[in-house]
Amino acid sequence: MRPQILTSAAFSLSRFSSTSATSNLAFKSLAAATCPSYKLLFTPSVCQPAYVSSPAQKRFQSNMATNANAFLELVKNRRTYYALNKELTVSKERIQEIVKEAILHTPSSFNSQSNRILVLFGAEHDKLWGFATDILKAIVPADAWEHTAQRMNMFKGAAGTILFFHDQNVVNEYQEKFAIYADKFPTWAAQSDAMIQYVLWTALTAEGLGANLQHYNPLVDEKVAAEWNIPSSWKLNAQLVFGGRAGEAGPKDQKPIEERLKVAGA
Ligand SMILES: Cc1cc2nc3c(=O)[nH]c(=O)nc-3n(C[C@H](O)[C@H](O)[C@H](O)COP(=O)(O)O)c2cc1C
Repeated sequence: MRPQILTSAAFSLSRFSSTSATSNLAFKSLAAATCPSYKLLFTPSVCQPAYVSSPAQKRFQSNMATNANAFLELVKNRRTYYALNKELTVSKERIQEIVKEAILHTPSSFNSQSNRILVLFGAEHDKLWGFATDILKAIVPADAWEHTAQRMNMFKGAAGTILFFHDQNVVNEYQEKFAIYADKFPTWAAQSDAMIQYVLWTALTAEGLGANLQHYNPLVDEKVAAEWNIPSSWKLNAQLVFGGRAGEAGPKDQKPIEERLKVAGA
């Protein structure tokens, strides 16, 4: 029995190889027809850029070895900055570029791409915090108002706000498509949203700006939707206030690492 299984496995493997050789050929013809010639590598995977094995790519790969440290420096550098001003030390175009990159490259479950973003600069940012102030004024007890008003002015004093949403239509679509995971998609959408929040918080800090993360949803949801024409399926999750740094990040306690990390098999 055993040798026979081995023989048939070997046969299947060779069949597979010859099938993939055929499909490689088909791939090459397709790639030759569809990929710019200067980008072709003619590997069996995708239309890969020619720089994959070029000296530049090798340099990039060897830099990658040190880039975990560079990345971790950015991770350490990200902090909550409350004292912000309206002086943007990078252009609005640069911020939009960063946001676009974050949208394109932040992962989502099943690549569902449920994240949605609204960026407000200048007067539009002021408007948001004006709405929040008006809404809170109506509900915050008079003796707590001073503190709240100061906080609102602090946010308004920043240069901009990034608002993070997930698209509920996408969540619904994936719940229907993959019913077995239906109860997971809301959590996964929130996790993907948290990832893009973190990417942008870290990236803006890396650019020398300061930022802090706020949650004035659902209080401001209606006003935001009406003012900036937000589709009803977009659900607001968080607001990242950003601007020039007008102060330092506060001290930060750390619980012992041993309470927070387990390793097995090292
Ligand atoms: C999921 C999450 C929610 C947060 N919500 C708020 C918030 O609503 N308001 C606020 O001022 N800070 C908020 N923060 C900021 C945290 O208080 C802050 O990140 C934490 O104290 C650690 O400080 P650091 O950001 O300087 O590292 C939030 C942070 C996270 C990760």
